[in-house]
Amino acid sequence: MCGIVGYVGRYNAKGILMNGLKKLEYRGYDSAGIAIISHRALVIRRCKGKISCLEERVLKEYIEGNVGVGHTRWATHGRPSEGNAHPHSDCASRLVVVHNGIIENYLQLKKRLLAGGHVFKSETDTEVIAHLVEQYLKPMKKKDLLKAVQLSIKQLKGSYAIAVISLDDPHTLVAARHFSPLIVGLGRDEYFVASDIPAILDRTKTVIPVQDNEIVHLTSLGAHFYDHNLRKITRKPMTIDWDPVTAEKGGYKHFMLKEIFEQPMTIQETIRGRFSLESGDLIFDENNLSKTAMKGIRKIYFVACGTAYHAGMVGKYLVEDIAKIPCEVDLASEFRYRKPLLDKETLIIAITQSGETADTLAALREAKRHGARTLAICNVTGSSATRDADGVVYTRTGPEIGVASTKAFTAQLAIICALAIYFAHVRAIITKKRTIELMESLYRLPRLVKKVLALEPAVKAVAQKYFKQRDFLYLGRNVNYPIALEGALKLKEISYIHAEGYAAGEMKHGPIALIDEQMPVVVLATGGVVYDKVLSNIQEIKARGGMVLALATEGDHHIKKIGVDDLIYMPQVAEVLSTITNTVVLQLFAYHVANLRGCDVDQPRNLAKSVVVE
Ligand code: F6R
Repeated sequence: MCGIVGYVGRYNAKGILMNGLKKLEYRGYDSAGIAIISHRALVIRRCKGKISCLEERVLKEYIEGNVGVGHTRWATHGRPSEGNAHPHSDCASRLVVVHNGIIENYLQLKKRLLAGGHVFKSETDTEVIAHLVEQYLKPMKKKDLLKAVQLSIKQLKGSYAIAVISLDDPHTLVAARHFSPLIVGLGRDEYFVASDIPAILDRTKTVIPVQDNEIVHLTSLGAHFYDHNLRKITRKPMTIDWDPVTAEKGGYKHFMLKEIFEQPMTIQETIRGRFSLESGDLIFDENNLSKTAMKGIRKIYFVACGTAYHAGMVGKYLVEDIAKIPCEVDLASEFRYRKPLLDKETLIIAITQSGETADTLAALREAKRHGARTLAICNVTGSSATRDADGVVYTRTGPEIGVASTKAFTAQLAIICALAIYFAHVRAIITKKRTIELMESLYRLPRLVKKVLALEPAVKAVAQKYFKQRDFLYLGRNVNYPIALEGALKLKEISYIHAEGYAAGEMKHGPIALIDEQMPVVVLATGGVVYDKVLSNIQEIKARGGMVLALATEGDHHIKKIGVDDLIYMPQVAEVLSTITNTVVLQLFAYHVANLRGCDVDQPRNLAKSVVVE
């Protein structure tokens, strides 16, 4: 939540900061601001609302300066308003801070600072940082922003990624991180800090992720890293292979639609070269887990949040079925509070697109504390989850900008299929021949997804029929139960329609009471071991006057006979892989419903892409 960007270099900062903020808008969009050191003054511009409001405000204004910071906000402390928008300044407006995270002890700090004569202008937790830095900087004879920031952050409890600039040290930007994501970008005579890679991707692909408790000192001459005691540290840059064009809409109306249509390619990229056909081994991106350790795993916990949690639910079905390892799935926000039983024969698989979700990271750390092995399925190179886990498998989807996760989810499912096959192989549950057969069916998936995308006109037509409905029920069974949950989540988060996902067999234990002529029910009836049962569930709905929109497999004429209201025929595919093909249709359905309702698909209200606070 919240995106920060900072610049020091030989070019004018305004355009660079505004471009960076636009790429970070998915992280929060209730207010935005920039501050630039210009001719020995701090020019601060802030606006309530989206970045376009800020842009309108600064567009015609000439602000000259090579050092600046910017922020896009997702409110935690203090309502969205211009006064609460970042950057926040000290009493004398000689320095500003942008911040992503939550300062948990801000009330105590504020009380102390107020007693010391500081005057506060906002309701935010962030403003205490500006006053703390002022408190240390002001008495210094030789102004040293780095030192002042280091002393200030020692006082902070909570999570933060901050960037600070000051008129008293005007060629410098100081940034620091504790539990909130932050990267440094290294350009040619220019240096950046940002919450995420897309913010700087059009200027450099060379980055260094800042680690917890590190402080960074940037000038136009270089970037220097320090630990919390200001001991210099050496960090190695990495090159990001994302294409800046993937961070653009490329002719689509929304990022979400573009990302839905990228799925044949992103699934292919994710599984490409993943398996050694000679040995049947899975190729991890990073792995400190030996094969012996993998063989010794007695239990797996999938931990994740939101959409990624649904991927974990599918993981439980697949790994138990294919590899015969007992699995549990936990919401990361619940995991560490329920005292799970963990030891070195337990593997925690954290699934996270961003690699920065606070709850997922906390669960990973808790698992490590108990000696469990850890693996991250993640989309962002160098993110916290990938650094914390023993092993990493990347979903190679490129940046996912739409707030609603689409391509990351199907890539997670593809990786989970591959992992299930791999576990079965290392434990000799399946033969090498079967391993290769299963992997080959996975390799056929991108072509099938392409076929499913060709169904868009049919899906749009159905969306046109249903987009004014107030409630929806989504039903699925077996591996498609989590997909029903995911379909409902997608619809509610972008269209604001109330939607619930249920295991179809569970309907008769309660939700059936909701069924009437006003209740459309989306049923995943694409076959598999539960096919007949799902048909019975459809009949139960029809008997109570409900409307049924069913996804069935092409050639299934039986389902027509039971009188479903709308039918989308899907290509033939193994039940396991129908989780991916069905998801794509549900994504398209949610997208078109939301679009027809005039919703802001890429930036739904109240949401943010990365939830880096608990
Ligand atoms: C929903 C969505 C969220 C995320 C969740 C976890 O469309 O995007 O539910 O899946 O916030 O985020 P990551 O995967 O970054 O940990």
